[in-house]
Amino acid sequence: MCGIVGYVGPRDSQAVLLSGLARLEYRGYDSAGIAVIDGAGELGMRKRAGKLQVLRDDLAASPLADGTTGIGHTRWATHGGPTDANAHPHLADDDKLAVIHNGIIENFAELKDELAADGFTFRSETDTEVAAVLLGREYAASGDLITAFRAVVKRLEGAFTLLAMHRDQPGLVVGARRNSPLVIGLGEGENFLGSDVAAFVEHTRNALAIGQDEIVAITPAGVEVTDFDGAPVETSPFEVVWDASAAEKGGWSSFMAKEVSEEPEAVANTLRGRLHEGAVTIPELDGLDDLFAGINRIIVIACGTAAYAGMVGKYALEQWTRVPVDVELAHEFRYRDPVIGPDTLVVSISQSGETMDTLMAVKFARERGAKTLSICNTQGATIPRESDAIVYTHAGPEVAVASTKAFVAQITALYLLALHVGRVRGALSDAASVEAVRELEAVPAKIVRVLEKEQAHIEQFARWMGDTQSVLFLGRHVGYPIALEGALKLKEISYIHAEGFAAGELKHGPIALVEPGQAVFVIVPSPRHSAELHKKVVSNIQEIRARGARVIAVAEEGDAAVLPFADEVLRIPLAGALFEPLLAVVPLHIFAMGLATAKGLDVDQPRNLAKSVTVE
Ligand code: F6R
Repeated sequence: MCGIVGYVGPRDSQAVLLSGLARLEYRGYDSAGIAVIDGAGELGMRKRAGKLQVLRDDLAASPLADGTTGIGHTRWATHGGPTDANAHPHLADDDKLAVIHNGIIENFAELKDELAADGFTFRSETDTEVAAVLLGREYAASGDLITAFRAVVKRLEGAFTLLAMHRDQPGLVVGARRNSPLVIGLGEGENFLGSDVAAFVEHTRNALAIGQDEIVAITPAGVEVTDFDGAPVETSPFEVVWDASAAEKGGWSSFMAKEVSEEPEAVANTLRGRLHEGAVTIPELDGLDDLFAGINRIIVIACGTAAYAGMVGKYALEQWTRVPVDVELAHEFRYRDPVIGPDTLVVSISQSGETMDTLMAVKFARERGAKTLSICNTQGATIPRESDAIVYTHAGPEVAVASTKAFVAQITALYLLALHVGRVRGALSDAASVEAVRELEAVPAKIVRVLEKEQAHIEQFARWMGDTQSVLFLGRHVGYPIALEGALKLKEISYIHAEGFAAGELKHGPIALVEPGQAVFVIVPSPRHSAELHKKVVSNIQEIRARGARVIAVAEEGDAAVLPFADEVLRIPLAGALFEPLLAVVPLHIFAMGLATAKGLDVDQPRNLAKSVTVE
């Protein structure tokens, strides 16, 4: 939440900042602003409520003077509504210094009282302005931005990425982070800061990850990273594995449309280099067998869509490792008193690798002595850095706020992990491994088939359902989390009521919601390998049909049993039971996107949301 970019170098910093902000807009889009130190040594600033385009239009109508040092911000409001005044940057020290911030400064009220008592005044309702004014006071005392910045960050509580620059020290941008993301982009005679590498990947793919409670100072000549006391620290360089075009819309109508079309690739890339002759080898886990040897329990923690991926993964983890698995929402896990220790493996799943709830849960698990493994899609992110081991998903950058391709990549990575752990622990037979690998290898082509055969049909059908007010989703076994994911995606981007249920739960309450015309998606398991479940789901379909529901069945090709009872049948290719979710979710993603588009909504930037939830 909130996108941050900083630049020092020979280019026109406004252009660099605006293109960086465009790539970070998924992190927040209720206001945006930039500040630039121009050639005459003046600090210019412009900020506007609304999407980045509002700021762009404003700057086009009345440009700021060019400069080569700057910071920019795109906001998801926490303290204070989305107004011009609350947008970042915030200025202080007679408008000579500018600050931008991502996170929440928890002790801002005390600091504000302290500053007010000193005679300082404020122009916004934000916690960020308090940090800016505090920095102004410190700068007046020391006359040095880095010294002043160190003094300020030590006084802040909560989560923050903070960037600052001062008119009297052009060519310098300072940044600090605690529980909030910040990465450095290394250029030739220029350097960059960003909430993630998307901010600067069009200029450089050489990046440096910085750790918790560290400060970075960038100038055109170099980068210096220290702890909050000024002692130098080690940094971790990495090369961004994707290029700028991967984070561009290309010819697609939306990032979400592009990302759904990339679901086959997301699975294929996550498998790449990890399957060898019917067995799974995960190079990142080489030498880490001990991590899995002494465990008697696995807890998967995540939020939202990532948690649903975890729920799917539970079936595979238990089947292939024979270790009991619980899946918990990260924010719930942390605030109870879980019984965990060195015999527990806590597997976190996060596309962004920055979700605060998940990060805090990982730290909490480590404090309690548990082993931690992160499944993550973002290089240089915080959660993998805080974990004992990492398995990356290779879905490529996901820009649309609603997660799609990352979901299938997360399930794929969980399956790889399950096969790896099953082998290490001797719980997995060679035959089961060979069969699972064969199924996994076939998934990308099967998703392509769903897209080719069903996309146009589903989009047409979604248009036709454009005025639907409520949709229910039912599934059993691995189909249950898919029902939850279908419902989440729909409410998230089309703003209509949607609920996912375990089909067996229907008669325990939810069937009361079914009235004539109610649309119900049903994920139907295969009659070949899940005959008993299939029969039960077909009975569930009959029960809701008898009450007037309009049934949309997601069923495997050739399953004729659903035909008499379903108003629509969306077909998926034949697959093993555990592999069906990777196919069944695709029609649901397409449907959510189709319905939101039919309603004229922005599928990439749904209201009230932002990607990468870096506040609790
Ligand atoms: C839903 C969605 C969210 C995220 C959740 C976790 O479409 O995108 O529910 O899945 O906020 O985000 P990450 O995976 O970045 O931790």
